[in-house]
Amino acid sequence: MCGIVAIVGNTPVAPLIVDALKRLEYRGYDSAGVATIHGGRLDRRRAEGKLVNLERRIADQPLTGTIGIGHTRWATHGVPNETNAHPHFSNDDVAIVHNGIIENFAELRAELLADGYTFASQTDTEVVAHLISRELARGSAAVDAAFAALKRLEGAFALAIIFRGDEDLIVGARNGPPLAIGHGDGEMFLGSDAIALAPFTNAVTYLEDGDWAVVRRGGLEIFDMNGHRVERAQQQSIGTKFLVDKGNHRHFMEKEIHEQPEVISHTLSHYIDFAERTTKSDAIPFDFANLDRIAISACGTAYLAGLVSKYWFERLARLPVDIDIASEFRYREMPLSKRSAALFVSQSGETADTLASLRYCRQQGVAIGAIVNVQESTIARESDGIFPTLAGPEIGVASTKAFTCQLSVLASLALRAAKERGTISAEEEKAHVRALTEAPRYTSQVLKLEQQVEKVARELTHYKHVLYLGRDTNYPLAMEGALKLKEISYIHAEGYAAGELKHGPIALIDENMPVIVIAPHDHIFDKTVSNMQEVAARGGKIILITDRKGAERAGIDTLETIVMPDVPQFVAPIVYALPIQMLAYYTAVFMGTDVDQPRNLAKSVTVE
Ligand code: AGP
Repeated sequence: MCGIVAIVGNTPVAPLIVDALKRLEYRGYDSAGVATIHGGRLDRRRAEGKLVNLERRIADQPLTGTIGIGHTRWATHGVPNETNAHPHFSNDDVAIVHNGIIENFAELRAELLADGYTFASQTDTEVVAHLISRELARGSAAVDAAFAALKRLEGAFALAIIFRGDEDLIVGARNGPPLAIGHGDGEMFLGSDAIALAPFTNAVTYLEDGDWAVVRRGGLEIFDMNGHRVERAQQQSIGTKFLVDKGNHRHFMEKEIHEQPEVISHTLSHYIDFAERTTKSDAIPFDFANLDRIAISACGTAYLAGLVSKYWFERLARLPVDIDIASEFRYREMPLSKRSAALFVSQSGETADTLASLRYCRQQGVAIGAIVNVQESTIARESDGIFPTLAGPEIGVASTKAFTCQLSVLASLALRAAKERGTISAEEEKAHVRALTEAPRYTSQVLKLEQQVEKVARELTHYKHVLYLGRDTNYPLAMEGALKLKEISYIHAEGYAAGELKHGPIALIDENMPVIVIAPHDHIFDKTVSNMQEVAARGGKIILITDRKGAERAGIDTLETIVMPDVPQFVAPIVYALPIQMLAYYTAVFMGTDVDQPRNLAKSVTVE
């Protein structure tokens, strides 16, 4: 996902913009650039690759000026190179940076070409610069020219625009991807999120979809797409908390894996009364006792957290769950009754597909809850109730602590639902709450297994394909383990229900296909042992992640057996998430990939 920063201030802005872009690196990008106005001239520096290349470019050719815009680009239209890097110019009188996709850019491009405009890039963004420039050429003032162009756009965009003829004007606009405006003293800031603005100010105003803003050193005016003034609240963002660093870890992902005992405990304390061993009964936007089902929708790892919770809601609360990946959910047109509720799981709270699914449910008139890590996010703001994960900022693109905190919230909600629906006794609730209370301790114990996990990871680097197997709540974990491995080590991996092995994937099994089996000793362990025997009989190499009893009873020659602490089945998904995260992490380290910012990936995908 692209990152936007813009500043209209009183000191040279180029170094400030680059530093702010560094705080957006976690979003993933492949090129970057900065443009400023100085002495009545627009000027820019752009570079392919990481921000260090842009810094080098600016050091070689300094960029002056107290107003500017900057951008980290995650390519949607056009290859990642300097020509396609933002900011984009038109006739040297307009500079623009953009996050999103202009869906009608082909039509606009043809129109502009017919008007004699030429394009320097393959991007959709450049059409916006030329649209504005054409309005200026027709005699419009800068603000009117920007507004006229914005009305022509279809699709998703967050924009920041500066004009050669006005060194005290930034126009910002938002339709989809977020845009925050930071209030300074005689200076103003724009950023894709509050993280970018944290060192400058905690006072931020979030634009809503369809808003556009006229930003000057003295303040801002916000308008809707009819040109009418609108008011948006100025909030105190949790700014400085965003200023995170890696501590003594090599990567943010390593740090975030190790933070899990603490943040799981912090998150659970929001939902569990540890002393009373009961779930808290804070107000929530639906009455579990009267629901006929819950629809859950999310993407990627967040979706897999939701898939685990389907077992919990249905087993404990006897509450049917329909779960779907958001990109399918939004077009499936799931029929929802007034007795349905919807839950959306999202670390960033900005994922376009998840947000679109939420808006579908809003149209259906069902109550909406959001499990989010960014409480100021769009998904949070558009929900009837927020169930925060208190994981703190998650910078590594691969989701780790957010996942286990999502599971912690969902486990607490499933218990709450079971209590309110009368499907578990007070004793059963206490037992499950006690298990949750112990989850931080269990995860701390698992972190001590990292040397053994590291040894397995070194082995995995010799293979091109890996299969993960699991049953019951370990089946979503098998998919999560495969997702983690492939997204950061680039080794192909698939997660499968262990029982499905014989229905196809077993054809893949040979000495070149390591099989990672996630199987604590539970009521279906023996079924999984049969699957492992099927693998062993075909020369497959097995890495078993189990507990003491499972290790004793497996009776299988494995490449490695990772013996986990004995944990109640209810919290196993939270605890068993760690070895699969650590395995992916160390494999990626040995593969030498960019662990925190894997290629082609963004931390939050705000485009469809
Ligand atoms: C997980 O490691 C990935 N980074 C990705 O699948 C992520 O979970 C997905 O894009 C959803 O993001 P969200 O939680 O911010 O909505």
